Amino acid sequence: MAGETVLVVGGAGYIGSHTCLDLANKGFVPVVFDNFSNGHREFVKWGPVEEGDIRDRARLDEVLAKHKPAAILHFAALIEVGESVKDPVAFYENNVVGTLTLLAAAQNAGIKAFVFSSTCATYGLPQTVPLDEGHQQVPINPYGRTKHIVEQALSDYAQYTGFRSVILRYFNAAGADFEGRIGEWHQPETHAIPLAIDAALGRRQGFKVFGSDYDTRDGTCVRDYIHVLDLADAHVRAVEYLLRGGESIALNLGTGTGTTVKELLSAIEEVSERPFPVEYVGRREGDSTTLVANNDKAREILGWVPKHDLSQIIRSAWNWHSKSNHH
Ligand SMILES: NC(=O)c1ccc[n+]([C@@H]2O[C@H](COP(=O)([O-])OP(=O)(O)OC[C@H]3O[C@@H](n4cnc5c(N)ncnc54)[C@H](O)[C@@H]3O)[C@@H](O)[C@H]2O)c1
Repeated sequence: MAGETVLVVGGAGYIGSHTCLDLANKGFVPVVFDNFSNGHREFVKWGPVEEGDIRDRARLDEVLAKHKPAAILHFAALIEVGESVKDPVAFYENNVVGTLTLLAAAQNAGIKAFVFSSTCATYGLPQTVPLDEGHQQVPINPYGRTKHIVEQALSDYAQYTGFRSVILRYFNAAGADFEGRIGEWHQPETHAIPLAIDAALGRRQGFKVFGSDYDTRDGTCVRDYIHVLDLADAHVRAVEYLLRGGESIALNLGTGTGTTVKELLSAIEEVSERPFPVEYVGRREGDSTTLVANNDKAREILGWVPKHDLSQIIRSAWNWHSKSNHH
């Protein structure tokens, strides 16, 4: 357990780097494996780094032989839904071919614990809310389908080869390290909180709300924002669970609390004390009205409790974005 080496694939990215921070705090040695297509070298602060691509089997074998990790956390992926519609080939290459290559290398190296970053986007349009893990999985875009394909492979590997994994389906990852050392930094940025904060900082003209006629308490979409350090904590618990011999399982990671876009924007105005222009435009294709997690299973299996609320999410994000010059 503590003291063990964990290979953090995609560890130079947003969620992976926060997980490295938490792993190090809990006594693990995080080794980052990243091709830096979207990651940041300055986010690698808590352990060694190995540059490489998950589609490169020889490089994976070399790194696994060198570091002999007890577990692999797999964050590496192309993540932007809009890009997945424009260039599905790149998404299948990276997220499916790359992940299957990583899984083959992991099996060959005898890895006993594998944690996979999945998403609530694998559910598709919600039939019932809050969503539990038994909800049908009918993703509606190539990004969601690449994640669903990997989930199915992991389920088959568990059933027929005994390869054990935890699939973590995140809702909306948000917030940053409270000390402001790392934070959310995607290129291009498409996530609501950094976009609204940038509007408050005057780095973009304003914030566009897509749809204000949804059947919700104020007409705007409802999302479940989960602090990135709560996600990180769940990953460490998932590693410990698998190293203790836990069975393969898929778990939702969300707070169970929904926030409308309007509520989010007023919380950001309150923290930043800087009002910014908001434009209401038509609905965007593919947006669900409400995405909120039922997180009972993660609480029960991992003993996980999300600790940070929306105000801590926004305060930590504001702290990072207002101090960083990355834009
Ligand atoms: N951000 C969210 O709200 C959210 C929600 C649900 C699921 N997820 C999933 O969580 C994971 C991490 O997301 P993030 O927001 O930290 O994204 P990110 O882009 O910040 O991090 C991904 C990292 O993977 C690396 N990478 C990509 N392709 C690679 C390859 N072929 N080989 C090696 N490294 C590669 C990138 O350089 C980057 O450092 C992704 O798998 C994403 O699908 C994110």
